[in-house]
Amino acid sequence: MDKRKWWHHAVIYEIYPRSFKDSNGDGIGDIRGIIDKLDYLKSLGVNAIWLCPVYTSPNIDGGYDVADYYNICNELGTLEDMEDLIEEAHKHEIKIIMELVANHTSDQHYWFRDAIKSKNSKYRDYYIWKKEKEDGSLPNNWMSSKTGKSVWTKIGDIEEYYLHLYTEKQPDLNWENKEVRFEIYNIMKYWFDKGVDGFRMDVINKIAKASGLPDVPDEVPYHYGEMYFENYPHVHNYLNEMYQEVLINYPNNVAIGQTSGVSPEEALLYTDANRNELNLFLQFEHVNIDCGDEGRKLEFSPYEFKKSIFKWQKAMDGRLWNTIFFGSHDLPRMVSHYGNDQEYHEKSAKMLATIQLLLRGTQIIYMGDEIGMTNVNYSNIDDYIDNRSKSIYENRVICRHEDEETVSRDIRALARDNARYPMQWNDKIYAGFSSVNPWMKVNDNYTMINVSHQEAERESILSYYKELIRFRNSELAIAIGTFGTILEEDKDLFAYKRVHENVEITVIANMSINEKKVSTKNFGECVISNYDDGNEKLRSYEVNVYKKIMD
Ligand code: GLC
Ligand code: CA
Repeated sequence: MDKRKWWHHAVIYEIYPRSFKDSNGDGIGDIRGIIDKLDYLKSLGVNAIWLCPVYTSPNIDGGYDVADYYNICNELGTLEDMEDLIEEAHKHEIKIIMELVANHTSDQHYWFRDAIKSKNSKYRDYYIWKKEKEDGSLPNNWMSSKTGKSVWTKIGDIEEYYLHLYTEKQPDLNWENKEVRFEIYNIMKYWFDKGVDGFRMDVINKIAKASGLPDVPDEVPYHYGEMYFENYPHVHNYLNEMYQEVLINYPNNVAIGQTSGVSPEEALLYTDANRNELNLFLQFEHVNIDCGDEGRKLEFSPYEFKKSIFKWQKAMDGRLWNTIFFGSHDLPRMVSHYGNDQEYHEKSAKMLATIQLLLRGTQIIYMGDEIGMTNVNYSNIDDYIDNRSKSIYENRVICRHEDEETVSRDIRALARDNARYPMQWNDKIYAGFSSVNPWMKVNDNYTMINVSHQEAERESILSYYKELIRFRNSELAIAIGTFGTILEEDKDLFAYKRVHENVEITVIANMSINEKKVSTKNFGECVISNYDDGNEKLRSYEVNVYKKIMD
């Protein structure tokens, strides 16, 4: 691991641009809105923004369906706005990380539009085609584990189906085709040359598919990913080529791979500096602990959550450098997901922030989590407008007649909409996000939970985040120290130590509502607490951080 790189110590702030800040009163967040809030981000203490897609897109999947990689979506701004954002962010000493959506394009991309015209199209081989089977059934039995739908679609009288691991509006690119790969490399260079500091590479571990696209064994219809296209060995050849063609020439830029389903050994294949592939990876084991197939909500176990995080922290031990995140644009709100967004809203939001931000790794905060934004809980299920929520409803309620109440409950708990409704800036109409009715309904609780109130309050969740980030930056034990567990078998406590030279930091959190007792005698001085003192009784969702100087 190269310790000199900026991203090892970074706190990255993820922005879903449509919902961050609307600058021109059309109800849609935009790039100018982000520029207007750079001072806010600077005051929070973040070093980089990860910007969800801002490219030209019909926006069927939140911009993860790109129609033109060289331009900006009209609703979000212009190319000039993007150039200004890069420049202004840099003046604030904030880096910009864009999305590279390279597994698929939008069906509105001119490559695909041309490819469906005829088999002789120059772009035909940019995508993945397969004939139906002799008995007339689909080319293979792959299904999306997210929605339970087939990954094959046929257009008009064209005789072959095209593959789409996500919606049918997102055809998968054929990475076996060298021209496709070099198209992507050129896109990367274009943005790097504009000053972008890195990419978060969307589902990059799925670009390589098993040759022949074989059927999966019937008994594992949802879990074929790891066998046929997730972390499929050839992906490493592609990434190594990408490194040689692009990344090697931009050594100060970061490449973060979204690599669901990786084991620590596989993560090392992606990020070992000697292998020349990626710098950082995102893995999802801990955030998916309560997510079943087809959007089913399972019970959340703090113990399983902790075990998963500890597993990865231990695996890092001198070998790996991981990113740490509890929320994202694809997940429910962290305080609702792992905490208690009712009576213990403030306490549990602070407790979660503490256990996250003091772990070892590159930190990612999802916008709004720094003020404890909650799941949205719209009264009408039709207000959940994300394509994934819609498909889950369609497939489970309309096609399969599952109990509507259960499916609605699952959607409310896990929907991506929870992360995508407008940011709560103040208690004015539309939460200060826009002057008009926004593209997505605001959460009614904005009059209580908003930036403006919390900026004014010393005890707020926002002030607490600032304190944690400052603490993180001032303690080498947190930035680079070792990680060790304590009280590992306790079902409710989340406790660990970070050590560097003679400094030992101990974090003890109670993830439950029940009072817990812990002997804190040898931990040193309590330096951070979400209650007031840090005594031996841990109240509901209490967290205390201790610092000790060892002789
Ligand atoms: C990733 C993104 C998600 C998107 C999907 C398809 O999982 O995080 O938002 O829908 O890829 O691009
Ligand atoms: Ca706007």
